[in-house]
Amino acid sequence: MIQQLSASRSEVMLHIGKNVEEINNEYLKPVETNWQASELLPLTSDKTFIADLKTIQDQAQNLSYDFLAVLVADTITEEALPTYETWLAGVQGINQYENNGWMKWLRSWSAEENRHGDALNRYLYLCGRIDMRQFEASTQYLIADGFDNGAANDPYKNFVYTSFQELATNISHRRVASMAKQEGNNILSKLCGLVAADEARHAKAYKTFVSKIFEIDTNEMMMAFEVMMRKKILMPSQCLRQLGEEVGIFSNFSDAAQRLGVYTAHDYIDIMRSLIDEWKIEGLSGLKENGEKARDFVMALPDRMAKIADRIKIPDTEYKFNWILA
Ligand SMILES: [Fe+2]
Ligand SMILES: [Fe+2]
Repeated sequence: MIQQLSASRSEVMLHIGKNVEEINNEYLKPVETNWQASELLPLTSDKTFIADLKTIQDQAQNLSYDFLAVLVADTITEEALPTYETWLAGVQGINQYENNGWMKWLRSWSAEENRHGDALNRYLYLCGRIDMRQFEASTQYLIADGFDNGAANDPYKNFVYTSFQELATNISHRRVASMAKQEGNNILSKLCGLVAADEARHAKAYKTFVSKIFEIDTNEMMMAFEVMMRKKILMPSQCLRQLGEEVGIFSNFSDAAQRLGVYTAHDYIDIMRSLIDEWKIEGLSGLKENGEKARDFVMALPDRMAKIADRIKIPDTEYKFNWILA
């Protein structure tokens, strides 16, 4: 039985942070055995490079316009990793100057994540269907513009966000992988499958952090979960824009993702339900009155959102993104 700590976030974080190393070992892989982009995509130093490049480009011919749009936006989202590492380094209890267990987690997690953008970026470069300057400029905008995830420096809210976000990216990369496979694109399929598996491992780690906080500071954790669900989890790609344009294009990308079935409003609701189950929200005991209200809100939310999601009509028209070569 874990001792009840005071409601101070810093104390709770300090307590959990003592054992964060175990979570690192369980949910992150050693560099020595981890996959790298160089094993998945042809190298210019390979004798077979020209033939391998032709295979990649031939396989990419079948990829649809919506599919390419989603792939580019997913890549940009991965490439904006500096934004996520920066905001997590500023979260209460994660102290980059003390070099505590949390900081080790954050650095190791970022290092694994960094491979995602590298691998996807390299695929886009090789596949021959992307206007790389346009894609690179959108990436630079997304990092420079920054992104507010709505969790400020609160570790409880941030770990709800990251739990959700890792699950969302797992779904998206997993579906892209299986669609690529159906199109006979085994190289892209393998790459996205490996990225998706990383996201699933990371989701488990963040969900474990939240479970541990629920054990120690149940009421405050419940309140934080409710705040994040009420605000809605916004994707970092919310702020995507194209070269020379002020107006964002998130809704165009989101429409493409929904048309393809890569990530839909129903997936959002399914993630919410899975987190409610994971954290055993229905059976939580020891909640205060405000915590009970927060639980009631969260428990009722998926059904409410499902009714709205059923009514959403997705436009058929494919938006013309600057990222994709004609
Ligand atoms: Fe990632
Ligand atoms: Fe991730």
